[in-house]
Amino acid sequence: MPSIARRVFTAFQRGVNALGGRPRPSVGGVDLGDLARTTPVSDVFGLDRGTPIDRYYIEGFLGRHATLIRGRVLEIGDRTYTERFGGGDVERSDVLHLTGESPDATIIADLTHAPEIADGTFDCIILTQTLHFTYAMEDAVAELHRILRPGGSVLCTVPGISQISRYDMDRWGDFWRLTDLSTRSLFGTAFDATLVEVETYGNVFAAVAFLHGLALEEVSTADLDVHDRDYQVIVAVRATKAGRA
Ligand SMILES: C[S@@+](CC[C@H](N)C(=O)[O-])C[C@H]1O[C@@H](n2cnc3c(N)ncnc32)[C@H](O)[C@@H]1O
Repeated sequence: MPSIARRVFTAFQRGVNALGGRPRPSVGGVDLGDLARTTPVSDVFGLDRGTPIDRYYIEGFLGRHATLIRGRVLEIGDRTYTERFGGGDVERSDVLHLTGESPDATIIADLTHAPEIADGTFDCIILTQTLHFTYAMEDAVAELHRILRPGGSVLCTVPGISQISRYDMDRWGDFWRLTDLSTRSLFGTAFDATLVEVETYGNVFAAVAFLHGLALEEVSTADLDVHDRDYQVIVAVRATKAGRA
């Protein structure tokens, strides 16, 4: 007896073959509707339609940890989240950029090797959607730990299920997708494992909608809030450097 997945796949394949390789809207009793296509609705994460769906998870995570965004804060590329979530507790905001092409950049450095940044500089590092663009992620995590002050935290998000970011791929490279397990192991190479907290967000609906580039404004957040540990659209980690602030 073939598995249900096998039977659905066979029915799908039959439908595809009958159409000379083109998927058809209804196969195996599943109506694929507007998503029966081989190109995404948007190939720029839905930016041309509204807010990318992954930002719902990323910004929710930062909002829940906003009290950690204080003192001397580092963000990558721009200071959008420092300003939105940090408020009056931010004493100084720095922006790191790899090449310096951002007008907000105060530090030009490679996160995998940043000798220009002194040990123990930052109380908080906001590292959204950046780590997977470094091939040597373990080196980057070691640098994050080094440049944090004792008691300081990095708030990091990485994609679990995502299209390639062509913009980033063509500039510095889009190397990795992570899981909660690989993220926990990665941060455990430099941080005290008891001070590393990893969360995941997403479900199959969120994953499909995000891969197709539907916008946040086009879906129900109640559907995005459903958590399925096997469909990790975003992996978020809060890692704190041991010691007192
Ligand atoms: C998509 S942006 C992420 C930051 C942005 N604030 C956000 O939330 O989307 C990707 C950033 O990764 C940076 N980047 C890529 N490789 C890097 C590296 N080795 N060191 C430091 N930054 C790097 C790029 O310069 C770019 O600013």
